[in-house]
Amino acid sequence: MNSTLRELRVELGARSYPIRIGAGLLSDIDGFDAATRDVIRGGHVLIVSDEHVAPLYAASVQYVLHRHDAHLKTALFTLPAGEAHKSLDSAAKIFAALADLQASRDACVIALGGGVIGDLAGFAAACWMRGIAFIQMPTTLLAMVDSSVGGKTGVDLPQGKNLIGAFHQPRAVIADTDTLATLPERELRAGFAEVIKYGALGNAAFFAWLDSNAEALQARDSGALAECIAHCCAQKAGIVARDENERGERALLNFGHTFGHALETVCGYGNLLHGEAVAIGMCLAARLSARLGMSAAADTARLHDLLARCGLPTSIPDGTNADALLAAMRLDKKNAGGRLRLILWRGVGRAEIAEAVDESAIRAELIAAR
Ligand SMILES: NC(=O)c1ccc[n+]([C@@H]2O[C@H](COP(=O)([O-])OP(=O)(O)OC[C@H]3O[C@@H](n4cnc5c(N)ncnc54)[C@H](O)[C@@H]3O)[C@@H](O)[C@H]2O)c1
Repeated sequence: MNSTLRELRVELGARSYPIRIGAGLLSDIDGFDAATRDVIRGGHVLIVSDEHVAPLYAASVQYVLHRHDAHLKTALFTLPAGEAHKSLDSAAKIFAALADLQASRDACVIALGGGVIGDLAGFAAACWMRGIAFIQMPTTLLAMVDSSVGGKTGVDLPQGKNLIGAFHQPRAVIADTDTLATLPERELRAGFAEVIKYGALGNAAFFAWLDSNAEALQARDSGALAECIAHCCAQKAGIVARDENERGERALLNFGHTFGHALETVCGYGNLLHGEAVAIGMCLAARLSARLGMSAAADTARLHDLLARCGLPTSIPDGTNADALLAAMRLDKKNAGGRLRLILWRGVGRAEIAEAVDESAIRAELIAAR
């Protein structure tokens, strides 16, 4: 029995699935069996990973798979790391790897890595033979608290982030917190942006908890990290269960993301990390809310301070063109009827959907925030 194990579920009827969070899970054969009992039904499993993660953790996953079933045909497909590779080209390479493996409809894909690998491998699983099973094994803080849960999969285009994709839920999420020991410092910090987002959008008590535990989290205190990951997953699982296809409440999880995605696109994929762009985006959304009279400047300051204490950027990089950012924001998936739809807030813990936001106010904020 793993004493650090925390188990949650995303409740989606017949498509419900477990989220297991704990130390050493990638080599925990009993836990793997329990979580994947009905998932690995066929004979083929493709592990998709990247060049940083595969050398560290793929052997462990392959060992567990072969202990699970000695007859499984498994293959490891390794991609170059980074956002620039979350592309249709990479998806096509995964399809080729599935074809080489002779994967049939009962095959399974395992996404072993950060959010880039999770989104990409999940998208390939959604498309292969119109949808096969996949398991998320997140290895970044960002992927553990956010991208591995909820079934959003996809790839970027040069014109914009995540423009091609599908809702395709994983069959299990297995988050081995030991893997965070090897995560580079900058990537850990980027994960805190999505963590802080949960407090900012809908949970003032969690925001206060983060304020008190920011130093322990940055020091990778295992207890604080496990509590934080479990909290975020529980909050996301609840939202996804209530609004799987983002008809309402789920859109709140995009707090800071319309600005953030535009920054990632305009600055070039990989130059600003996703979490860094989201940190700047949340500051912009908070400042715009204050400019529109929706929230108090003191709330913007609280958010700004917590992000800065976690080592995250809070202003737009020098030289970024405001009109290019606005153009990228017009391609955001939340927009409707040619009008910009943003997630703004009334203060810490109180985000809301704002329809038809005035472009001149957004532009003024983009210029002021440099
Ligand atoms: N699907 C969703 O709901 C959702 C939600 C949030 C973010 N995302 C997406 O997630 C992506 C960002 O994910 P990310 O921040 O995890 O980035 P990432 O996948 O690029 O991983 C970050 C870097 O850390 C390395 N790495 C990963 N785990 C490691 C480990 N344990 N030890 C050492 N190195 C490790 C990777 O090789 C990579 O270089 C973006 O594309 C974003 O759009 C998706």
